Amino acid sequence: MTALTAIPLPSLAAGVRRYAITAAPATRHLGPTDRPATNLWLYGGITPGPMIEARRGDELEVEFLNNLDVPTTMHWHGIRNLNEMDGVPDLTQAAIEPGESFTYRFPLRDAGTFWYHAHNKGWEQLARGLYGPLVVRDGDEAAGARDITLVADDWRLDDEYQLHEDSFGSLMDWSHQGRLGNWLTVNGATDPDIAVASGPVRLRLINAANARTLAFRLGDDMPMRVIALDGAPCEPFEVQSIRLAPAQRVDIMADLDQGITRLEEVSTGDAIGAARLVGAPDEITTPQAIAGTDWYERPDITGARIIDIHMQGGAMGNLETAMFEGETLPLRQLAQEHSKLWAFNGVVGGYDHMLADLALGEVAVLRVRNNTRWEHGMHLHGHHFWVNSREFGEAGRNVLRDTYLMAPGETADLVFIADNPGLWLFHCHMMEHHAAGMGGVISVA
Ligand code: C2O
Ligand code: CU
Repeated sequence: MTALTAIPLPSLAAGVRRYAITAAPATRHLGPTDRPATNLWLYGGITPGPMIEARRGDELEVEFLNNLDVPTTMHWHGIRNLNEMDGVPDLTQAAIEPGESFTYRFPLRDAGTFWYHAHNKGWEQLARGLYGPLVVRDGDEAAGARDITLVADDWRLDDEYQLHEDSFGSLMDWSHQGRLGNWLTVNGATDPDIAVASGPVRLRLINAANARTLAFRLGDDMPMRVIALDGAPCEPFEVQSIRLAPAQRVDIMADLDQGITRLEEVSTGDAIGAARLVGAPDEITTPQAIAGTDWYERPDITGARIIDIHMQGGAMGNLETAMFEGETLPLRQLAQEHSKLWAFNGVVGGYDHMLADLALGEVAVLRVRNNTRWEHGMHLHGHHFWVNSREFGEAGRNVLRDTYLMAPGETADLVFIADNPGLWLFHCHMMEHHAAGMGGVISVA
């Protein structure tokens, strides 16, 4: 995973980090090399797209060129961004047409593990490969063989190792879990060997799948120490395995031997080889604890603005009718005529569905009730929120993150300070759920 298209400045000190990135059709071997290469849409011709690395306090400038034959945008997931750089078509910018370019430029306020991805018809554009990692380090954090980024995806391939195109838009997927794949890759390869330093190592895991919640563990049940979630540092804690909803990230510390440590994907109950971490002696010092200076404490919610979100729909759900483009329609008709299956507060969501109008600086609580039979990875743009997370056990754990995996039946408070002006999406990051109605907009002014 190399930054093929980087135009680095001479120094890594605070400054402008510049990249040129083109999106275009490209072929890569996802399967064995004696099998056909897969036709994909990629950034910089590689999967995942070029690793973007910067220091906290830098400005990132990306000159983006769209060489696809469909319109697209780039979204910088987890970045507390300038609204006009957030990459949501029709909301924060016009979609970038084929042959056109657009320059994204914004300050990086936070250090952490982020990623970027297309945000137009994400259900197709992510499934075809339009995403890549974005890692922002604090001044002294070590990079290199003690700091490894692992981007995981599950592709849906046919017998010829091509993307299963007939199932794009499948109502079966859209009303159930979303588009699940059948071919796991880490950093674009199947069970690759990845060179790491032996001793303490930081692993940054990113789930770039459309819909599958992936679960990882290290061989021999080696403990994993969680130090950051969705880029934001947390009170460290140990786990034996970790589930990641689409778009979620986790930074873990592990103490690796010389020799091979297996990273396994265990979401289906069977352990699948995800990567082989090949340890070698290394002189680089231990990565430092993360400072995380600019993140914020959980605010007091007395007198906070409560935004109730009642999520309904999907297969085996209780949504009978919902409002779509000003009309109340039965679910059956919504599904068959419009591919819509989900609703927030009885309204099928789109980029024009306003959920709340907040004043700048206001403390807000998204009180989300998952009244469906499915898990949902709920993502807020432009802000991180505090949540009493049930992802690590029923006891709950207060964490700061940008995407929260909700269990069926769960109600959760996502608490944030609306300190970033603009129009921000709130949506399910299971791409098919978003496309089928699970989304809305929060205005901060
Ligand atoms: Cu990762 Cu609305 O996006
Ligand atoms: Cu969902």
